[in-house]
Amino acid sequence: MVHERPAVAVLLAVLAAAVLVAGAATPLSIRPSQQWDGKEGPWSTFRIEAGTPAQQFRVLPAHDQSTTWLVLSEACSANNDTCFEARGRLYARDNSSTWTEKGFYGLEPWLEARVGQAGDGQYGWDDITLGWAGDNLPTLKNQSIAGIVTESFWLGSLALNPRPVNFTDYNTPIPSLMQNLRNKTNDPIPSLSWSYTAGAYNKAPKVYGSLVLGGYDATKFQPNSVTFPFGSDQSFDFQVAVQTIRTSLATDPLLDTGIIAYISTLVPDIWLPENVCEKFEKAFNLTWDEKTELYLLNTSLHQTLLQEDPTVTFTLGPEVDGAGVTINMPYFNFYLTASAELTKSSSSKLYFPLKRAANDSQYVLGRAFLQSAHLSADYERNSFNLSQALYPSSQTEEEIVAVLPPLTETTPGVGGPGTGGSGAESGQALSTGAIVGIVVGLVVVGAVIALVAFLLYRRRKAKPKKHELADTDIMHDISHEVSGEHIKAEMGGGMAHEVAGDMDPKAELSAHGPQKPVEAEGNLEQIYEMAGDDPKPVEVSGESMVHKIPPSMMASNHNAMPSPVSPQWEDSTSPGVHFYTDESTLTPSSEHYFNQGYPRHN
Ligand SMILES: *[C@@H]1O[C@H](CO)[C@@H](O)[C@H](O)[C@H]1NC(C)=O
Ligand SMILES: *[C@@H]1O[C@H](CO)[C@@H](O)[C@H](O)[C@H]1NC(C)=O
Ligand SMILES: *[C@@H]1O[C@H](CO)[C@@H](O)[C@H](O)[C@H]1NC(C)=O
Ligand SMILES: *[C@@H]1O[C@H](CO)[C@@H](O)[C@H](O)[C@H]1NC(C)=O
Ligand SMILES: *[C@@H]1O[C@H](CO)[C@@H](O)[C@H](O)[C@H]1NC(C)=O
Ligand SMILES: *[C@@H]1O[C@H](CO)[C@@H](O)[C@H](O)[C@H]1NC(C)=O
Ligand SMILES: *[C@@H]1O[C@H](CO)[C@@H](O)[C@H](O)[C@H]1NC(C)=O
Ligand SMILES: *[C@@H]1O[C@H](CO)[C@@H](O)[C@H](O)[C@H]1NC(C)=O
Ligand SMILES: *[C@@H]1O[C@H](CO)[C@@H](O)[C@H](O)[C@H]1NC(C)=O
Repeated sequence: MVHERPAVAVLLAVLAAAVLVAGAATPLSIRPSQQWDGKEGPWSTFRIEAGTPAQQFRVLPAHDQSTTWLVLSEACSANNDTCFEARGRLYARDNSSTWTEKGFYGLEPWLEARVGQAGDGQYGWDDITLGWAGDNLPTLKNQSIAGIVTESFWLGSLALNPRPVNFTDYNTPIPSLMQNLRNKTNDPIPSLSWSYTAGAYNKAPKVYGSLVLGGYDATKFQPNSVTFPFGSDQSFDFQVAVQTIRTSLATDPLLDTGIIAYISTLVPDIWLPENVCEKFEKAFNLTWDEKTELYLLNTSLHQTLLQEDPTVTFTLGPEVDGAGVTINMPYFNFYLTASAELTKSSSSKLYFPLKRAANDSQYVLGRAFLQSAHLSADYERNSFNLSQALYPSSQTEEEIVAVLPPLTETTPGVGGPGTGGSGAESGQALSTGAIVGIVVGLVVVGAVIALVAFLLYRRRKAKPKKHELADTDIMHDISHEVSGEHIKAEMGGGMAHEVAGDMDPKAELSAHGPQKPVEAEGNLEQIYEMAGDDPKPVEVSGESMVHKIPPSMMASNHNAMPSPVSPQWEDSTSPGVHFYTDESTLTPSSEHYFNQGYPRHN
């Protein structure tokens, strides 16, 4: 009998460990490509692979997309390596044995469309690997992909929206990449959450972006106690109230009445009301260039500004009044490089990433802002955090912390209930929360029994072994992570010092790195002209595709996630399902599309 107790204890410990391993969840830190890409910016991209055999890509995150976008071979003329690299590498879908084509649908960048970024995609499925070979990140079979050629989105992007993809002519919602990562049997991500900050090209040394799925890198931001609920419209989750904007160059605030704006990882610039832009113009001596629609910075102004070293301070909160987060944005995050196709000239130029919004639907805080801000989204709590980005030295080890699902919540469901909706999806089977609860319960019960057995065993032994349960102490982890004990109150003034202190006043005028000047005009109609000299097929001409998107699709008050669009207008009863008007425009037979004579990049 005496010998059975340790045996039981060990058995229980092993069982508990097995339960834990089966449910073990690890956040995934996607490696930066270590390259700087984009026609503006330039931006720190992330590496992924797709297809069989695997093709490599450098992409940006897409905060609001459920489908991963890859730039198609058609976007460049054949054998143009400059173009191939400039667009983060092209997807040769017909070279992939695992590609299944679905058809031609509108992309769904609802927020981005408000500032003129839209396009269409060749939808289908293929395998996606996070990272490149050797990064030790998972491969997922048969994930939603949209091949794009539009120049509205210069680089491909990784789908971060966990909500399923809905095709209007296909009844079953298709689980998103995030949902599939969450639902993996081995090493799922701990929750439907992610964190992103864009890095800083002009910081010396340069700081790459950070993208973590299922958690965050604690070295990349200054925590604060403000939590932002998702916006009530599912397509505009990242809603913030910009309470004030100030700059060290002016005594009066640049923005003194709060506005509601939205954060986007797919929009490069910061779009603010015209009267705010005017105050920026005065304070920074900016001149609006009508031709390029950019605030171009000439050398003398840039030199002055480097010397003045101004900071712009944004205060943002969930509401126009009340608690807010302060984001300090130094001048080095305000001089970006517009490549030749943006400057409409033969050379790239420095510009100030501020844009004049025509109306309040266009208030968008884009990637330029996310150089100084760190965004952390939690779809299981329907909330996000916004924090001052930090730039730890390259020697600083990542400190990846898992965001765990809420234990008490019963129904996160697929993508979680919208904040605006009832949220009461009762009758659903085991939710994530419930599963975690059960796992934790099992582990706790196992641990208690094992501990009791051990204590009994220990009495009979002079020197007890270290008990096996040490690494299964999930309760400790959970209370630690969930309580957010390390989160301190407001960021305060210390941050100005944090950011400004590291500023590099060195001019970067011509150092626009790997950007490739491109001559093509940046407008949508030109998309297919890039494809080469072959006759353009009527069916897929850029013009009809882009313009056939009905304006209502870009309206602000639809309240479901974007969905790929079918070739027909229908009166949809469910909100957010949108349809196209012209069949022939949007569903060319794949045969036809494939045999266009589009050059392939081979
Ligand atoms: C290659 O592509 C770039 C755009 O990325 C363009 O500027 C250039 O003219 C192209 N070269 C050829 C030979 O087509
Ligand atoms: C890939 O996923 C789609 C959508 O879920 C499905 O229709 C298709 O059968 C899948 N293909 C494979 C090879 O699993
Ligand atoms: C998650 O996986 C289980 C089995 O592995 C499956 O039954 C369930 O439908 C999946 N859920 C989603 C949302 O994919
Ligand atoms: C803007 O121009 C005014 C007048 O030329 C000058 O006094 C001021 O220093 C300039 N400010 C900056 C930031 O260049
Ligand atoms: C540079 O820009 C400033 C402010 O926009 C303007 O006053 C100045 O004349 C410009 N200098 C040159 C050399 O163009
Ligand atoms: C806002 O301005 C844009 C650009 O001028 C325009 O397309 C859009 O219709 C306007 N939206 C509203 C709600 O007025
Ligand atoms: C957001 O911040 C809270 C503390 O304010 C923390 O508990 C939570 O884990 C954070 N969520 C994410 C997704 O970073
Ligand atoms: C797809 O439809 C489901 C409901 O069927 C909804 O919960 C989900 O948010 C939709 N996905 C998108 C991306 O809109
Ligand atoms: C397509 O596959 C062929 C043979 O596997 C290879 O030689 C070629 O380089 C591939 N093309 C692209 C664009 O990946």
